[in-house]
Amino acid sequence: MAEIHPAKRLAGELFFPGDKSLSHRAIIFGSLAEGTSSFTNVLESEDCTRTRRAFEAMGVNIADDGRGHWTIRGAGLRGLKAPKGELYCGNSGTSMRLLMGVLAGQPFSARLTGDPSLSSRPMRRVVDYLRQMGATVDGRENGNYAPLEAGARRRFGGGPLRAIRAELAIASAQVKSAILLAGLYARGRTAVTEPMKSRDHTERFLSYFGADILENGLEVSVGATAPLQAKSFDIPGDISSAAFFMAAAALVPGSDLVFRSVLWNPTRNGFIEALKRMGVRVVADERHPKGPEPSADVRLDAGSGLKAFEIGKEELPCLIDEIPILTVLATQAEGTSVIRDASELRVKETDRIRSMTEGLSRMGARIASHGDTLYIDGPVRLKGAAVESFGDHRTAMSLAIAGLVADGTTAVHDLDCVNTSFSGFFEFLNKIGDGVIIIRPSE
Ligand code: S3P
Repeated sequence: MAEIHPAKRLAGELFFPGDKSLSHRAIIFGSLAEGTSSFTNVLESEDCTRTRRAFEAMGVNIADDGRGHWTIRGAGLRGLKAPKGELYCGNSGTSMRLLMGVLAGQPFSARLTGDPSLSSRPMRRVVDYLRQMGATVDGRENGNYAPLEAGARRRFGGGPLRAIRAELAIASAQVKSAILLAGLYARGRTAVTEPMKSRDHTERFLSYFGADILENGLEVSVGATAPLQAKSFDIPGDISSAAFFMAAAALVPGSDLVFRSVLWNPTRNGFIEALKRMGVRVVADERHPKGPEPSADVRLDAGSGLKAFEIGKEELPCLIDEIPILTVLATQAEGTSVIRDASELRVKETDRIRSMTEGLSRMGARIASHGDTLYIDGPVRLKGAAVESFGDHRTAMSLAIAGLVADGTTAVHDLDCVNTSFSGFFEFLNKIGDGVIIIRPSE
């Protein structure tokens, strides 16, 4: 349990561990490439460790120096070995869905398992496409829920996967990535079209590691390629983790935070655009370091008072993981903020419409959902309360940030989930907030 006290002023220079989406992909592409890849600032969170362990179980040699520098001796696209045991994905949807895409192309199958949250998240959104490509995936409720058995063992007639043209009903980087990874093993070109652009890291990594990839608007396609080539680069800081501290800087008057070397990818910057609409001045010094992804040093100036904002369905993919922290900002913004048609939030690590509505309501916020649309009236003086994470890392961190501007003490319960993406969260907060947090063992 963490007790959070009101913050006076936050100041400091922050370097964040590598972006979670990028760290997963560095492990996957490093494992599938020919040669030795080396990455610095890899996120060593529980989720990324699940992806690492899965590739190690399939025979890939991965070493690290304990400080985020990882060396991966790639097995090549066709060098993975059948794992002896199951591949446990813990809480990580990215691990499970992207691994399914890789397994679809293997001459063996493997069992994918997860914790209770992951085992209740829908998988047919990936499985249906992989089956169309000729892969075999079995699981509970016709393959919609883990445990899943994925691979090619019983593929009719053997041989490579079939290329497909997938038209996704929802914009999802996990679904898109699984299909594109399977496409590396298919005969012909595999194309994916999304209704809106979701994060494009897999496209960037495919291109950087030498795959045959083409992009045309919302369509991206990949051919069964020549081998992927090993690469080495530094992973920019996690923009989704930085978002909690950017929100804190906007909420706590007089704060002065500098964000060094955070991921600066337009398909991930919806939160920054929302901040600007709220009246926050954002100054970014953009860089194009060696590697597939740009980064930036960022400073914020919230001036006086935040304005309410609206987020439409078309914008959701580029800020999907930042909705919980946006609801916290909305409680302090002048007017009614609206986040429309956010049904995807219902199938994240927890139902985030429910978890944030419940937590912030307990703190006195005026927040309500009608269907999958959220309405938040502000500004409201929040009061400290006992709130729950529902086992979801982003709910836990969002409510902790709300505690910085609440009267009295906010107690956030069930915190282990924070290790999913950002085990250093509370230390970071204490460092910049001069002891605003006290961690206590839960009764
Ligand atoms: C991710 C994609 C998003 C996001 C998740 C990470 C990825 O999920 O919510 O935290 O790394 O591809 P969806 O693609 O299911 O929206």
